[in-house]
Formats: sequence, structure tokens, C-alpha cells
Amino acid sequence: MQKEEKSAPSFTSKVGLVMAAVGSAVGLGNIWKFPYIAGQNGGGAFLLIYLLCVLLFGLPLLITEFTIGKHSGRSVYGAFSVIRNNNRWQWIGWLCMLATILVMGFYTVVTGWCINYLIDAISNTLYSSSDLTAHFTELSSNGPRMFGYSILALALTSVVLWFDVNKGIERLSKILMPLLLIMMIFMAIRVLMLPGSNVGMRFFFEADFSKLSPKVILDAMGQCFFSLSIGLGALITYGAYMPKHQNIIATSVQVAVLDSLVAILAGLIIFPAVFAFGVDPAEGPQLAFVVLPSVFEQMSLSSLSSIMFFGLLCIAAITSMISLMEVLVAFLTEATAQKKHSLDRHKAVLLAVVICVVTSSLCAFSLSGTPEWLKIGDKDFFTVFDTVASNFLMPLGALSMAIFIGWFMPESAIKQELRNGNRSTIHYALGFLFMQIVRYFVPIAIVAIFLNGVLSLI
Ligand code: PHE
Repeated sequence: MQKEEKSAPSFTSKVGLVMAAVGSAVGLGNIWKFPYIAGQNGGGAFLLIYLLCVLLFGLPLLITEFTIGKHSGRSVYGAFSVIRNNNRWQWIGWLCMLATILVMGFYTVVTGWCINYLIDAISNTLYSSSDLTAHFTELSSNGPRMFGYSILALALTSVVLWFDVNKGIERLSKILMPLLLIMMIFMAIRVLMLPGSNVGMRFFFEADFSKLSPKVILDAMGQCFFSLSIGLGALITYGAYMPKHQNIIATSVQVAVLDSLVAILAGLIIFPAVFAFGVDPAEGPQLAFVVLPSVFEQMSLSSLSSIMFFGLLCIAAITSMISLMEVLVAFLTEATAQKKHSLDRHKAVLLAVVICVVTSSLCAFSLSGTPEWLKIGDKDFFTVFDTVASNFLMPLGALSMAIFIGWFMPESAIKQELRNGNRSTIHYALGFLFMQIVRYFVPIAIVAIFLNGVLSLI
């Protein structure tokens, strides 16, 4: 296969691509998942391991995905085949597709919760139930209601996808991402002014290494992949839309730094608040939906804080859903391009929505417990999809991509993309360092952490 002339979709500016990639990376993973996983794993020590993972795996894998996407100019369906000139690596594309569909299943449901909470906060009904745990249980046991909000989340996402990428995704991300950052800084300052917030700060920043275990490291690695959107091809897809002279290394550093900054800001909002009001930081997935609103309730201007917080969550979640759906849309258009029933962008969006409606309804109804038979063994689909995608498929995807770029993609092509016309020694050195990391360190470390973590669970 030869690389075709691209009349393909593309971002018009470098900033646009960075904002869209940050939009993909910053999501429920940062604001909902990161604080509760850090809370369960002891706070400071987890933060440190997490940041190490970002540096050692996250950054090289961001560069890997962008390089594969930019060089091939294709979606995950064709990227590997174009680079290798044969179809032997196309299974990675299918693996990405499967992972994306599973992630979309539970991600859509949680985005639906965020929209529901935002509407409740705006209409002042968030604090009307007897207590916030009851409010959350009411929602998570009501299949039809969760399904309804998932459809709303999908509808909002597909409106953006309906437009070409430079008009929909690019424009929206350029507005929403800076807004999100400003809102988060504002909220963090507000929470830090609460009396007693320093206990939370200490929990979040002081590393207690007695809490370290193989499971903590596995969780940190999984969280790093999920948060940076690595391992299912979202950034290969965006890489294919990258303007020609964009610097891949600089872009990857910007995405990693901004994503980690938002995760830290989320911790800065949640932990001081949680400690100031004497709540357990290891509450789990309910932290953002039950604990935080009840903390807000005790603060002045509680409904404004809730509206801001759930507004933030909605923005972050929807820009990530957009990138997930774009993986499917690009895959479907490309896979059917030469076929009798080819799909243009609009038809591909519709088909992607149908697929996501099916998986998210499985998650929503199974989580609610009705019908009772809708589960796998004794686990609901919501949990199974999350575990299979985040703990298995995404690390496997990342591992395959690292092996592909390290051992099977022509080195000259990689260097050409990384140097970006620049022949300085520093670019040469960075290219060399990158190759050593993706060839040896990343694959060995992923396998080791994975085995160690899994064995410790048995
Ligand atoms: N990174 C997103 C988050 O933190 C989730 C995501 C994963 C998005 C994979 C796209 C691809 O919420």
C-alpha cells in the first residue's frame, strides 16, 4: 500500500491539535478517577509513581502514537499496513477498535451521570434527596434514566463529530480547554482557602513509601495510559490530522504536562476539601459524585460550586468522548472506503453512535441490576468493560505499538518525523534516546509490571 495524497481531514493549526489532544487526554480519568485511585493508594506515594510513569511510559508512548499517525496519515485501520506495506500488523487496529468500543460503553454512562448532576445542580434539586448517597444510588440503580442520559451524551458528542475535524473538534477544543483550566485553578484556590485544607495537601504531597506495592504500581501504570489516552489509537487518529510541520516531541511534552497538571489540580480541589470536612479519601468511585457535593453543601455558595464542578466534568468528559468516537468514525470510513457500501463521515458517525448505544445500554442496565441476568458471572458489564479495556487491552495496545515502532517501523521514517527537518545534535540525541526506550525499556517494563501486578492479585 502506498501513502495516498491526502484530501483527508486535518487540523488547521498546531495549537488546535494540541488543544484537541489535551481535550482527549483530560477527562473523567483526571477529575473523577485520578483522585479516587490516589486516595485508595495512599496519596503522595501514588502521585510520585504516577508522575514517574508519565515520564517513562507516557511520554514515549505519546510520541509513538503521534509518529505512527502522522507518518501514515491513516486511522488505526490502515496506519500499520501503510507503514509496513502489508497487512500483517492490522490486528493492532482491530484491537484498538475493540478497546475503544468497550471504553465508550462505560465512559458514556459516567458522562451521562455528569450531565445529570449538572442539570440537578442548575435546577437546584441536587440537595433535595435525603442525602447524597441516596441521590447517587437512585441514579445508578435506575437503568432507563442512565440510558437516557447516555443518549444525551452521545447526541452532544455526535453533533461535534458531524462537522469536519477542523470545524468541530478543533474549534471546540480551542475554546473549552483554556476555559476548563481557568475554572479548575479558580476552584483549587477556593478550596485551598478552607480552614484545615493543609491536612489534605499533606496527604496528597507527602509520600509514604510503606504504601507501595506491585498493585499500586500496576494501578499507576493503568491510570497513566488511561489518562493520557494511550493504547487505543486515539492519538494515532489525531496524529493523522497533524499539520505537516508540527513538532511531535514538543506536542507530546505539552500534552503530558497539561494532563498531569489537570490531574494534580483535581487532587488539589478534592483532597483539601475532603479532609477539611473529615471524609475518608479512599471512598472510591463515589468520591466525585457523593463526597464532593456533600462537601460543597457545607461551603458557602454551594450550588455555584456544584455547577462549576459538574460543568467542568461535562466539558472534560465530552471532549474525551469526541476523541474516542473519532477513532471509530475514522476506522469505519477508511475500512469501507474501497467497498461497495462505503461510509462517508456522516454515515460513519451514525454507525458509531449505534454501536455506542448498544454498549452503553449494556453497561447502564447491567449496573442498575435490572434485568438480573444481564451480567458476566457475578460482575456487571460496566465493571467488566472498564477492567478489560483499562487493565488489559490498553496496556496490550501500548505494548504492541511500542514493539511495532521499536522493531518494525523503518528507523529512517521515525527519525524523519522526530527531527521534523531539524538536524541539530539535540534532535539526533532525542531520536536515539527515544528508540532505546521504546525498544527495550517500555516493552519489558509493561510486561514486568503487568505480571507482577496480576500475580499479586491472585
Ligand atoms: N484520557 C481520557 C480521560 O482521562 C480517557 C480516554 C482514554 C480518552 C482513551 C480517549 C482514549 O478521561
